[in-house]
Parts: sequence; C-alpha cells; structure tokens
Amino acid sequence: FPILDDAQLAGKRVLIRVDLNVPMDGAKVTDATRIDRILPNLQEIAAKGAKVIILSHLGRPKGREEKYSLRPVVAELSARLGKPVAFAADCIDEEATKAVAAMRDGDFLLLENTRFHAGEEKNGEAFIDQLAVLGDVYVNDAFSCAHRAHASTEGLARRLPSFAGRSMQVELEILTNLLSHPVRPVMAVVGGAKVSTKLELLGNLMRRVDILVIGGGMANTFLAAQGKKIGKSICEMELADVARQIMAEAAAENCELVLPVDVVVAQKFAAGAPSRVISVDEVGDEDMILDIGPKSAARVELLLEKARTLVWNGPFGAFEISPFDKGTTEIAAVAARLTRSGQLESIAGGGDTIAALNKADAAKDFTYISTAGGAFLEWLEGKKLPGVEALRLNARRA
Ligand code: 3PG
Repeated sequence: FPILDDAQLAGKRVLIRVDLNVPMDGAKVTDATRIDRILPNLQEIAAKGAKVIILSHLGRPKGREEKYSLRPVVAELSARLGKPVAFAADCIDEEATKAVAAMRDGDFLLLENTRFHAGEEKNGEAFIDQLAVLGDVYVNDAFSCAHRAHASTEGLARRLPSFAGRSMQVELEILTNLLSHPVRPVMAVVGGAKVSTKLELLGNLMRRVDILVIGGGMANTFLAAQGKKIGKSICEMELADVARQIMAEAAAENCELVLPVDVVVAQKFAAGAPSRVISVDEVGDEDMILDIGPKSAARVELLLEKARTLVWNGPFGAFEISPFDKGTTEIAAVAARLTRSGQLESIAGGGDTIAALNKADAAKDFTYISTAGGAFLEWLEGKKLPGVEALRLNARRA
C-alpha cells in the first residue's frame, strides 16, 4: 500500500484517521501510549506544510453521548505535540467545515467522535461524502481500527488519494517480522471485556497457537457454557454455543485450552469492596468474577515457562481497581522476566492491555507492544483487515 513517502502534502488538507480510543478516568487520559505512537506521523504531515485534520472514535457510543466526547483528549494531545490543537464539536457539516476553513498550513484540528453518527459504523456512502469534502488526502494511521470497515477507516480510502500512516506502516512491518515464523510453542492469552468481538475469532486463533489461555470477561462465557454458575459476572450467554464448539475443537486441533480454575469475586466492582478467592465451582448468585485466582495464575506462569512466543491481548481481570489487577500484574511480571532472560518473545496489544502492562511496569520489557487489540488478533488469525485492504485496493497518487 502507498506510504507517506509517496504523498505530496504541501498545502493539502489531510484527513488522518488515528486511534484516540484511549483509556480515560473521567476527563483524564490514563494511558497515552496510543497518542505517543501517532505523534511523529502528525508532526511529519504538519512539517510537510499540510493542514492536519484528525479523525477518531472513542468508545462505543449509541449516537451523540457526551461522555464519549473527544474534547477532553485535546489537552493531552496538544501537550504531547507541543502545538495547539483546535477542536470542532462535530466531524461533519457546518462545525467541521468552518473549523477546517480557519486552518493554516501546519495547523492541527481534532474533529469530534466519528461514532456520534450512525453512518460511521454503517460505512454509509452519504456519511463518507460528508467526511471526504473536508480533505484532499486521506491517511490511515489507525492500525488498531483496521479490522473495522467503517467510513473513517475504510470508506474514505475509496474517495480520496490514500496513504498508510507511519505507525500503521511500522506496526505491520514489526508484527510481520516477529510473527510470520514464530518460535514454538506459541501461547496466546486472550482476555478483556470485549467478549463478542473476540470470541468468534478464537476458533481460528486456536489453529495457529499451541496454548490458548482465556481470561477476563471471555472466560466467564466459557465457564457458563460448561454449566457453571457465574453469578452477576459479565457474560454473553448467547455465545455459549460458540464457546462449546471452541472447547470441542481445541482438543482436535492439539491446542491446549486453559480456563481459570479459581477466581476472585466481589459483590461490588469498587475499590475496597470485600473480595474472596474461590473455586470456579463455588460462585454464588450475587458474586461478580473480577480476576483469576492464585491457582489459575500459577498454572499460566508454569505454561509461560514452556512457551517461546507469547501473544497477549486483554487483561485477566478488572485491572483498573486493586486488588483485581493482581492476576494480570503477576503474569505480566513473569512474562517480562522471561523476555529479559531471552527465553521468550513477548508481543502484547490493545488499549487496556497496554494500560495494564504499564501499570504493572512490565510493558518496557516486552519484545513489542502493539497499539492494536482486536485488529492485532484478526491479523494474527490471517484475516484481511478492511482498513489495510482499502489502502491497497484504492491506491491513487495524491
Ligand atoms: C480498540 O480499542 O481495539 C480499537 O480502538 C477499536 O475499538 P472497537 O473495538 O470499539 O472498534
């Protein structure tokens, strides 16, 4: 696909899709890794004399929901760029048009959450047009959103001369180098709360890895599919059949599927809420599973000692609140130690995973940290990512 070296950008309005879907605590960005990764690219485009119009989503809003506004991200982005960043309260129509018209070459403008409009996820032609009129050139620097065929990740590449941004380019190069012929055994850890997004891809992933460890919200769906009680824990019961099928296939595929044997439960997800460690067979009606227990963590650590390559997406528990970060923190420390000693290649990805590994002070020791979670897993499965394919198929010179 075309990269920035191929682009003539001076004087152009560049619509750049990035991933500012960063972990937030109220209006505060709690992990800025995704911002840091895109800075060189934003600076390069501005230095080439273009107007830099930034597009992103945040969270999964249903229509315009102010709690998903990108406005609070402006301060962090601007501080890290060392340049002012203007903000438009809508990504299309009058607000956006006026804000773009006021830009000078080298300026930065962030447009409001693209997911405030249904046309974004529908990849609707009318919405793509409304975005496209704001720019002359499209750059996609959101590898972590490349698995979504949305207007700002896929549609725009069909309308404007398009290029991959630097961080997208570098991520794909590094991941290809590290994972096209990984040293076996390969262990994948899949956790986190985005159950439905990831559950269906486990089937394919299983065929590519030797050990598949399931944690976080996803593990609950598997436990429930085995007929266990999971109380008030996150779970997507409608996916129980998929989970059962995955468990049945794992044996046939020679993939060791690892589920928690013990868990940490509480009746409230709040700091200081009383918690207990219990077996997965003892979960009560009022309990919420918020982390894996020590026996499960020890089992994962033992398997890590056998593995030579680790790919990790999604924390084991509700890591934002102590003590539910314990399973993730302990396993991260072991992976970091094994990587330092040269025994393990460790690759982790995803917004929450990065935040959890940073919190555990382990990210710096990992072989590579990808900004991408779901996109990284789909790429690993061998799927074509719509955001990348659109760049490839619709390559046109600026
Ligand atoms: C991510 O955090 O993986 C990306 O920002 C994509 O978010 P999504 O899963 O809501 O599309």
